[in-house]
Amino acid sequence: MTIISEIDAHFTATSADDKKAAAAGVNAFVRAERTSAADDAEDVVRLHRVSRRFGTTQALKDVSLTVRRGEILGLIGRSGAGKSTLIRCLNGLEQPDDGVIEIEGHAITGLSEKALQSVRSRVGMVFQHFNLLSAKTVEQNVALPLKIAGYDKARRQARVAELLALVGLEDKAKNYPAALSGGQKQRVGIARALAASPALLLCDEATSALDPETTRSILALLQSLNQTLGITILLITHEMEVIKKIAHRVAVINGGEIIEEGPVWQVFAHPQSQLTRTLLQGLLPQLPEALAERLTPVRQGEAIYSVHYAGQGRQGEILTLMAAELPGQFRLIQGGVDHIQHYAIVRFFFSVPVDNAASEQAVLHWLEQHQATVELTGYVSSNA
Ligand SMILES: Nc1ncnc2c1ncn2[C@@H]1O[C@H](COP(=O)(O)OP(=O)(O)O)[C@@H](O)[C@H]1O
Ligand SMILES: [Mg+2]
Repeated sequence: MTIISEIDAHFTATSADDKKAAAAGVNAFVRAERTSAADDAEDVVRLHRVSRRFGTTQALKDVSLTVRRGEILGLIGRSGAGKSTLIRCLNGLEQPDDGVIEIEGHAITGLSEKALQSVRSRVGMVFQHFNLLSAKTVEQNVALPLKIAGYDKARRQARVAELLALVGLEDKAKNYPAALSGGQKQRVGIARALAASPALLLCDEATSALDPETTRSILALLQSLNQTLGITILLITHEMEVIKKIAHRVAVINGGEIIEEGPVWQVFAHPQSQLTRTLLQGLLPQLPEALAERLTPVRQGEAIYSVHYAGQGRQGEILTLMAAELPGQFRLIQGGVDHIQHYAIVRFFFSVPVDNAASEQAVLHWLEQHQATVELTGYVSSNA
């Protein structure tokens, strides 16, 4: 039994606690939600044509987005793209000007502050700068949402112990945040966000203040929480690396608009927008700089092509196959194979001499037959 279902069972079984919870603002809506078929509903979050303006700034523009139950959805965009505004709309801190937002099938737009509280209890929030209370110990920080939800002291203590074990901080219960490393602070933040067994974890740049190694360990923790507790995660970031490591799907936001969306492997293999390509730049093989500088659009010397490809199983071995079936007809310049979600993501650059049109046509034809995306990058003179 997972911790969440255990808590859920407890929640519906003890009517005295139910009354207490109701008094604390966790109203009938949440209890009905927990026992209804909506628990199995596919979508945890639905945004339908959501817009939000601040004066002349359109922070969100006609955004439609779905977070499915059990998935990790990555939302990536540059600073100012509208990511935090979207999150603030999801937890009711911000009201959209237009559109509908549903959490677990319930519209949250236009709710009273009291009704919003129960929605918020279904949503856990993890912050970039942890937002821990410095005058409270680790266990007190984690217990805070439980207090608000009306758990009695014994249940709070049991739950806090469970949560600290879950994030690997059993031995830090009595410490104050100042005595913790950044990674440990974020683990406390995650434990606190999970305390009231939310359906959704919102992570706003949760690893952006951490070094690469700590980032990896926090991402591994989020991934394992997703796998073991089945918790749905909306992961907001400006780093494609984060998306690549743990997200199932990704949406790209720019100027308040979702400009691209899909399974992570697909977006890596076939990025549609220029922004996505730019965001992917550090993660995909690039032409060597010295060569890139010599590129010209004038047909001469050698033609340089780039190839994007994604395949499963043997299909992923396109480079090996290409070398075997077209021996000596192209020169591999740079590139390789990456693996995302059981797909081999292949990206490479090759060249063919322009005076060998037969080879060039043979190679291009072969790649077309294998459904690879090929683009002419330019030419370099062969006498440089
Ligand atoms: N309360 C606000 N008042 C005025 N402008 C805001 C407010 N919140 C956000 N904005 C503007 O909306 C845009 C999106 O901001 P934000 O959602 O914080 O972006 P991100 O989190 O992607 O960096 C920015 O141009 C920002 O300046
Ligand atoms: Mg932000």
